[in-house]
Amino acid sequence: MSEPAPGGRSLDLVDPATFVDNDVHAFWRDVRAESPVYWHPATESNPGFWVVSRYADVQALYHDPALSSERGNVLDVVLRGNDSAGGSMLAVTDGPSHRKLRNLMFSAFTPRALGEVVTNVQLRSTELVSAVVGAGSFDFAAEVADQIPMNTICDLLSVPLGDRRDLLRWNKMALSSDRADSSDLDALSARNEILLYFVDLAEDRRRTPGDDVISMLASAEVDGVRLTVEEIAVNCYSLILGGDETSRISAICAVLALIEHPDQWDALRTGAVDLDSAVEEVLRWATPGMHVARTARSDFSVHGHQIRADDIVTLWNISANNDESVFDKPRRFTLSRSPNKHLSFGHGPHYCLGAFLGRAELRALLTALTGQVRRMELCGKPRPIYSNFVSGYDTLPVRFEMSR
Ligand code: HEM
Repeated sequence: MSEPAPGGRSLDLVDPATFVDNDVHAFWRDVRAESPVYWHPATESNPGFWVVSRYADVQALYHDPALSSERGNVLDVVLRGNDSAGGSMLAVTDGPSHRKLRNLMFSAFTPRALGEVVTNVQLRSTELVSAVVGAGSFDFAAEVADQIPMNTICDLLSVPLGDRRDLLRWNKMALSSDRADSSDLDALSARNEILLYFVDLAEDRRRTPGDDVISMLASAEVDGVRLTVEEIAVNCYSLILGGDETSRISAICAVLALIEHPDQWDALRTGAVDLDSAVEEVLRWATPGMHVARTARSDFSVHGHQIRADDIVTLWNISANNDESVFDKPRRFTLSRSPNKHLSFGHGPHYCLGAFLGRAELRALLTALTGQVRRMELCGKPRPIYSNFVSGYDTLPVRFEMSR
């Protein structure tokens, strides 16, 4: 089963440092050409897993019922065993139960239902950019990008303003297990705090429903049975897991890419390129979630490789989004790129529930930037995130010059 690493080069796709210390795009180019599907060898601490890199295979496997999400949809989780939320959290539930829960939650994510939330995103983005433009150097990640997604999700869930500071703090701690200097125990207890907070809120909204996603989940029935408060809490948390870091990373990546490609910034600022197509290229370029993980339910084969039931299979969006057979000159940041059917939001039954909102957040940011900023400049080195799942930076020191 174990094959030599592609191109004579071997990268450990479990080690977070791999994605910071190497030219991963060159690695994926070789993988797509030479071993588009390969078995990543086991190590002392982890089992091996399949790596799928080409666009067509990744896209097809997103739809394949032979693959399950219930043991987890992120490599670190499936390597450790099982996702404890499997079968109750939308992203890690399969089949009919997934479809029913998704239909229920989807009603809160239609463009119509999100109207007010999107208006708030626009207002917030305009205010945040106007507070930093012309004010000397600042960290775009802390001052702007950090402030948008969590507040948006809190708007969606009608989290009282006074509670948001705690939720933000817990979420930072929960995410920090990815960082070099952090403790797993602190992260775990922060996750528990978030879940307990949502259990309380779910009980509250069951008694006094409002016009928000928690109230909707609290009063809805699936097959005549109401969701438990634990199920409601887990699915509220899933919105933070799905929508916070991904959106923040896209915003940071957008600004960095526009600074590094001044011709593209000029095209955007002067209206020579369409805002919606710019949003899609930022999403492709950023690919905030590098992979999704699945587990095989049964034996099947891909490109002559025999996948066995229970094998872990990883689908690499970051590679698919740079597949030269689909995207012309993929390592060029081209805001007018069309077509641009990237897989940044996944594909198939688990296609991102928050895709409309994620796009609206980026659109609002680009609108605020083009409306108020003439020139953006890097003032220091951005700090990369150490993770085998998300790719990007968590600081971005910049200076914005005001439009006249
Ligand atoms: C699913 C990416 C924004 C909530 C997904 C998946 C991807 C993704 C790749 C598929 C996971 C899989 O197949 O296992 C992104 C990116 C975003 C973003 C790149 C921003 C740029 C959001 C937002 C929310 C959200 C704003 C909600 C507020 C979800 C949920 C799922 C999901 C609930 C699970 C859907 C299901 O399993 O049916 N997202 N997401 N995402 N996302 Fe997003």
